[in-house]
Amino acid sequence: MPLIIFASPKGGVGKTTMAANIADALRRNGRRVLVIDFDPQNTLRLHFGVPLSDGAGFLANLPKRPDWRNVARQTASGVMLLPHGAIDIRGALGLSSAIERDPELLAAPMRAILADPGLVVIADTPPGPSHALNLLAPMASLVIAVLLADATSAALVPEIDNGRFLGQGTMAALFAGRLRVLLNGVDPNARLSRAAAETVARHLGPRLLGAVAREEAVAEALAAQRLILDISPNSQAAEDLREVARGIEAAMPAVPDTLQQGWGAR
Ligand SMILES: Nc1ncnc2c1ncn2[C@@H]1O[C@H](COP(=O)(O)OP(=O)(O)OP(=O)(O)O)[C@@H](O)[C@H]1O
Ligand SMILES: [Mg+2]
Repeated sequence: MPLIIFASPKGGVGKTTMAANIADALRRNGRRVLVIDFDPQNTLRLHFGVPLSDGAGFLANLPKRPDWRNVARQTASGVMLLPHGAIDIRGALGLSSAIERDPELLAAPMRAILADPGLVVIADTPPGPSHALNLLAPMASLVIAVLLADATSAALVPEIDNGRFLGQGTMAALFAGRLRVLLNGVDPNARLSRAAAETVARHLGPRLLGAVAREEAVAEALAAQRLILDISPNSQAAEDLREVARGIEAAMPAVPDTLQQGWGAR
């Protein structure tokens, strides 16, 4: 506990980039952090320096019921990682059906992972609805919907407002105030980007968790298979990520100091 899910109705908005780098920011704040890749694209690992050729992982092997502890990688950043694992289209479709048929296949290991009260668990999900997201959302302390600061983001706000993209059974999560929006790729020098960000901020109010600047440093960090706070700690994006991590800590439910060195203690 707690579980923080990165999701979005739209692809390519920066979910994986945010999940990896926020995990790193929380780790730097002294948290024990596990990131889990639920996306068959299997790209979360690249932010942590796992070689392209390394196809080992957790979700891809779920039907074999692996012990997550045996699959988890201790990365150089200190963040623990459960890569998705390499899988082809047929395998991904089969896995999705297996989770739909037997939700316990995923629910049981997730309960085991979340039973560790001092562990912050971050989930990166594929774009749009999925059986995995449907199953995970009710377990989450926070669902972070990532949007780009562009013309489509304003149009997607109602989709996020009514929770449709999260699938069934998650309206409760919305009303409990567990859904937040993170605006990514904000370019303060571009009129359209600024206008989109202002529209989203006006509509969402406090449900907007924060914004991260569009910056070369973000893409460069991925190209180098490194994390932004590691490679460009003085960039605007790095500052934004630290700020978002502080917002996440403030939004988390209180956990006793004895279990976690102080969620909300600062
Ligand atoms: N703030 C940013 N500034 C510049 N480039 C960015 C920023 N955020 C993300 N990117 C780039 O945008 C691309 C897409 O990012 P990412 O893979 O994280 O999106 P995603 O939402 O996880 O995609 P998918 O829906 O396919 O899972 C990457 O090349 C990434 O480096
Ligand atoms: Mg992704």
